[in-house]
Amino acid sequence: MKKNQNKTMNPISVALTVLAIIGISRADDCGEKFRGKCRCGQQMYNYQTRYVVNCTDEGFRDTTILEYLPLQTEVVIFTGNYIEELPWNVFGAINDLANLSIVDMSNNHIREIRGKTYHHVSNVKRLILNHNNLSISRYDDDEYNHHHPRVFSNFINLMELHLTNAFSDNTSAELSADLHDIFVSSNLTKLVKLHLEQNEISKFNDKRVFCDLPALLDLHLGDNQLTEINFNVSCLRKLRFLDLERNKFEVLRPHDMDMLDSVQSHEGRLVNLMVDFTFNPFNCSCNIYPMYEWMRKTNVTVRNRENLVCFRNKKHQEPILSLNMKKCQKPRSGKRDHTVTLIFVLVCLSCILAVLVGSLIYVSKDKLKTLITPVVDHVSKKVHYTTIKDEEAPEQYV
Ligand SMILES: *[C@@H]1O[C@H](CO)[C@@H](O)[C@H](O)[C@H]1NC(C)=O
Ligand SMILES: *[C@@H]1O[C@H](CO)[C@@H](O)[C@H](O)[C@H]1NC(C)=O
Ligand SMILES: *[C@@H]1O[C@H](CO)[C@@H](O)[C@H](O)[C@H]1NC(C)=O
Ligand SMILES: *[C@@H]1O[C@H](CO)[C@@H](O)[C@H](O)[C@H]1NC(C)=O
Repeated sequence: MKKNQNKTMNPISVALTVLAIIGISRADDCGEKFRGKCRCGQQMYNYQTRYVVNCTDEGFRDTTILEYLPLQTEVVIFTGNYIEELPWNVFGAINDLANLSIVDMSNNHIREIRGKTYHHVSNVKRLILNHNNLSISRYDDDEYNHHHPRVFSNFINLMELHLTNAFSDNTSAELSADLHDIFVSSNLTKLVKLHLEQNEISKFNDKRVFCDLPALLDLHLGDNQLTEINFNVSCLRKLRFLDLERNKFEVLRPHDMDMLDSVQSHEGRLVNLMVDFTFNPFNCSCNIYPMYEWMRKTNVTVRNRENLVCFRNKKHQEPILSLNMKKCQKPRSGKRDHTVTLIFVLVCLSCILAVLVGSLIYVSKDKLKTLITPVVDHVSKKVHYTTIKDEEAPEQYV
């Protein structure tokens, strides 16, 4: 019996050894240059089986390894490493990665991407650079210019650009101008999704920052510090979703609402523009009345409209649409109503006064006569004298 057991054990250990070998060879699928550091192979990624190269948290300090990607690579995940600067030709100068469609380089402390970093990326649809420390400014650093406007120019088929928390914390207000420059020079004519959340953006100095992204459908600006829509979105004719969650809006200004309505009114729209203002510190004063009215009548879809709240103070919040807005309604026409009533009252009082005075005169007409006659006589005499004087006077000089 014991011997038999040993015999049955043997195939299992053989199988284990085989599995181990397969495991090793799997790791080696990336090629010997990888020295077993990344995982390569077919796997599910975003609901699809693809050839993925995954180099997560491997402690890389440069990107040399990426020059040796297997030619069939479809997805590159190179995250959680420490790469301050991406060199030219990060995927090698000669490789033709015809199937490469997703590049994720999040969380790498990347500070600078050189203008000639990305080549052979003509089929990349999604580029993810979240949680980095990018500087794209001309002005940040006197010693060195970080501004490379053509940085994404080889991504001719790029559809999604993820730049959530991608820029260094001391990002200047000129970020918009620098971004605009990049969007213009990189010719991102197919970009449909742009993520710019968590970048401490308080305003866009360059109003036309997004106007050179003609295909843009979804613009994500959540978790920033915007207080108004001071950038042009009406140039984005296809815009479908504008995410402004968790910003610093206290009220919607007339030009914000006009801007959104103007996007909505573009001819040939197939879907309504949707906008999301959830978790903004709206203020429950009469200043919110235009927004309250707008939300009820606009064709723009305000996401989560019924639950959008404003704050009376730090603790007390109310759904905007259920506010009692009676006292805020049309303050101007209210003023006019007051004036009309005032005039009416004045006219009535004048009439009553006239009637009273009239009847008083009528009732006491005899008394008045005796009172007035001597005065009238006196006056008419005086008038007579003066007339005579006046008439005579000129003659004296003749
Ligand atoms: C990539 O590898 C990391 C760590 O090994 C793992 O946590 C992550 O889920 C992998 N990503 C994918 C998409 O497989
Ligand atoms: C980001 O870059 C700045 C210099 O531009 C540096 O001082 C800072 O330490 C970096 N932060 C991180 C998290 O890498
Ligand atoms: C931008 O891309 C479009 C097509 O994607 C192309 O027709 C056009 O020539 C490009 N423009 C520039 C300046 O590269
Ligand atoms: C936005 O851009 C469009 C198209 O370029 C232009 O017609 C419009 O006047 C601009 N709107 C504002 C508010 O700047």
